[in-house]
Amino acid sequence: MKIALIGYGKMGKEIEKIALDRGHEIVTIIDVSTDGSFDDEAFKSADVAIEFTRPEAAYNNYLQCFNNNVPVVSGTTGWLDHLEDIKSRCENDQKTFFYASNFSIGVNVFFEINRQLARLMNKVGEYDVSMEEVHHTQKLDAPSGTAITLAEGIIENLERKNNWANETTEKADEIAIKAFREGDVPGIHTVKYESSVDEIVIHHSAKSRKGFALGAVLAAEFVKGKTGFLSMKDLLNF
Ligand SMILES: NC(=O)c1ccc[n+]([C@@H]2O[C@H](COP(=O)([O-])OP(=O)(O)OC[C@H]3O[C@@H](n4cnc5c(N)ncnc54)[C@H](O)[C@@H]3O)[C@@H](O)[C@H]2O)c1
Repeated sequence: MKIALIGYGKMGKEIEKIALDRGHEIVTIIDVSTDGSFDDEAFKSADVAIEFTRPEAAYNNYLQCFNNNVPVVSGTTGWLDHLEDIKSRCENDQKTFFYASNFSIGVNVFFEINRQLARLMNKVGEYDVSMEEVHHTQKLDAPSGTAITLAEGIIENLERKNNWANETTEKADEIAIKAFREGDVPGIHTVKYESSVDEIVIHHSAKSRKGFALGAVLAAEFVKGKTGFLSMKDLLNF
């Protein structure tokens, strides 16, 4: 496949390696530090664009891809204010957009375990739930997109929780998410249920960025020939 990379930071560079290993061609790289542009023929020739940039840049990049009819796979977090607009462009204008707050296969298994645990806890009233996430110090958004997806998975399945809160909360119907920023940590997420007598903890720790990058390339292979708003649920078929 011909892949356009948008964003050539930590993730863009990992994705490039995995895409080349899997026999794909990188036709252009668009970043503030490279020469690639949305107006180039190389970009227009791409089968798919893989976008990992910054929260404030992502939405405009998606529109540029849509204008050129290039399907988008994006992992940038912190842009979800525009989610409904992107979904309606996919539906009404037959655009292709694949989004995951976390492309790691392991994290997506973890998302399913989290939902299932919340369903069980819905029948067991004495446990309260809280969350922690740890990431590298350059991460711009907090809590992480992955932590927000985990919180949403709990809220959908645990009737006593209606919202999440950054850091701490006094409200019984909110899930507190504590965010820590340390060193070069690629991503650690912990969900803890605590009662007066015990605690149950589920935990995912990424060893490197490779798992995210591989998932993004698998998603790029998956979108070929498809339209609409797609996610890891479509890819993994859980
Ligand atoms: N979904 C996932 O699985 C997953 C995994 C890791 C990181 N992320 C997210 O991906 C994003 C990128 O992460 P990273 O670690 O590669 O960050 P990074 O800071 O290393 O790289 C971001 C790159 O985007 C470039 N950039 C900024 N504005 C741009 C624009 N307008 N057009 C093109 N390029 C632009 C920067 O110059 C930089 O090279 C972040 O939002 C992060 O939270 C998601």
